[in-house]
Amino acid sequence: ANRTPLIAGNWKMNLDHLQAVAFVQKLHWTLKDAKHEDGSVEVAVFPPFTDIRSVQTLIDADKIPFALGAQDLSAHDSGAYTGEVSGAFLAKLDAKYVIIGHSERREYHSESDEVVASKVKAALKHGLVPVICVGETLAQREESGPTAVSIAQLETALGAVSASDDIVVAYEPVWAIGTGQVASPEQAQEVCSALRAVIAAKLGDEAAARTRILYGGSVKSANIASFMREPDVDGALVGGASLVVDEFAAIIRFEK
Ligand code: G3H
Repeated sequence: ANRTPLIAGNWKMNLDHLQAVAFVQKLHWTLKDAKHEDGSVEVAVFPPFTDIRSVQTLIDADKIPFALGAQDLSAHDSGAYTGEVSGAFLAKLDAKYVIIGHSERREYHSESDEVVASKVKAALKHGLVPVICVGETLAQREESGPTAVSIAQLETALGAVSASDDIVVAYEPVWAIGTGQVASPEQAQEVCSALRAVIAAKLGDEAAARTRILYGGSVKSANIASFMREPDVDGALVGGASLVVDEFAAIIRFEK
């Protein structure tokens, strides 16, 4: 299949808006002449909400070929939801993507599969591409095997998705996030291929062939190539390593 690899940097709660602008500028200069310039790899950054406007202004002014995303959104369009951010607002800031159902949201903010599904629906309504995160804990892997939890999470998340919608799926085993305990390429491939089968069953073969599925969890420049060699891994959702210019640039420059 002919899917453009996506290297996505989830900054989590790091870098204020001044640091964010300096970071993106430096990353762009470090990557001059790299293959993302010709569109053969898509780069996306996911700053905190408070940085999005500043980063968008910079990207626009300097014609930097990075896509912009948010780390979460509200399931609602507007109204009395103190502290929440609507997909409509994100779309107006030219955000293209929004991460939904990251394991940190599921754990610290009790986001259920149903909440994730309603946020996916809200993202699509506002023209944002949801990056739907799924993944099992170590206990769940031991109890129900490597694929069951991710399959169930994705099936619910796809509840309101139709075949023509653009989505991205990210498989992030919870035990590999921020731990340095990276999954093996074979483990990533096993789950990503099972997730592609879920997409095929729910949305059809064309959607399954077109949708990018990312691996996330302790991705570094030293291991990115091994994941990108797997047929069902179409990119990476990078946390810690996306905060270090040279390291993130080296991930973007991966060679299979
Ligand atoms: O969204 C990114 C993931 O949670 C991975 O984080 O690369 O720091 O392990 P990490």
